[in-house]
Amino acid sequence: MAELLKLSGINKVYGEKIKTQVLFDIDLAFEAGSFNAVIGESGSGKSTLMNIMGTLDRPTSGEVVINGTKTASMTKDQLAELRNQTIGFIFQFHYLLPEFTVLENVLMPALIRKGRIDDRDKKRALELIDLVGLSRVKSNLATDLSGGQQQRTAIARSLINEPKIILGDEPTGNLDSQTTESIYTLLREINQEIKSTFIIITHDQRIAEKADRILEIKDGRINLDVDKYVAKTGGNA
Ligand SMILES: Nc1ncnc2c1ncn2[C@@H]1O[C@H](COP(=O)(O)OP(=O)(O)OP(=O)(O)O)[C@@H](O)[C@H]1O
Ligand SMILES: [Mg+2]
Repeated sequence: MAELLKLSGINKVYGEKIKTQVLFDIDLAFEAGSFNAVIGESGSGKSTLMNIMGTLDRPTSGEVVINGTKTASMTKDQLAELRNQTIGFIFQFHYLLPEFTVLENVLMPALIRKGRIDDRDKKRALELIDLVGLSRVKSNLATDLSGGQQQRTAIARSLINEPKIILGDEPTGNLDSQTTESIYTLLREINQEIKSTFIIITHDQRIAEKADRILEIKDGRINLDVDKYVAKTGGNA
């Protein structure tokens, strides 16, 4: 079985003088191609855990292995390169570049990766824009979009480098329930189409129920781990 992302013995302590431990001895592995939901109360440690998974933050102790690569001793630059090649991020606040169009925003990670854009990138970007239903507004500036359209742009952007792993921290947190529903349907389709592994923090119970696996974080520990993916595929995905 292919473990794309593995966390072992992860602890996280914030603060210098007053130390607060927010994650405790977390061991987790994610299968390639799986769709995972992370739930838990506010302050339970979900974002902290996701930032560590995505190497945006380092654990106080423990190990993060991404696609077979141990990250602990990597430099900032090496981590940035690993992220750019392996991980797509979708956040609640999507950080689009306001002075650029939808198409330019979607192309940005490819530009960062290679230093230039070729026709193939452009074709791929247009396909992704079509996939998320934004062809009509592809030349709009990011500021001239609705909240849902901005979110879709961020999703297309997270996919341009065809990342093996997509991390979402409440990607639909500020959207209405209908838009939320359609964005999750879209993420699921992408998951099935390009076999990316999704790990998504969500407050929405209905969304979590559609995932292959639900992880509940409580007070910095894994409180619940319901894995329908292994049952469905026998772990041979
Ligand atoms: N940079 C930081 N310094 C100190 N404490 C922090 C820091 N970031 C988060 N915390 C604390 O760590 C705990 C976990 O925070 P985290 O953001 O991971 O929670 P969460 O589960 O994502 O919550 P929410 O659902 O509200 O987003 C909280 O008690 C929070 O106050
Ligand atoms: Mg959070």
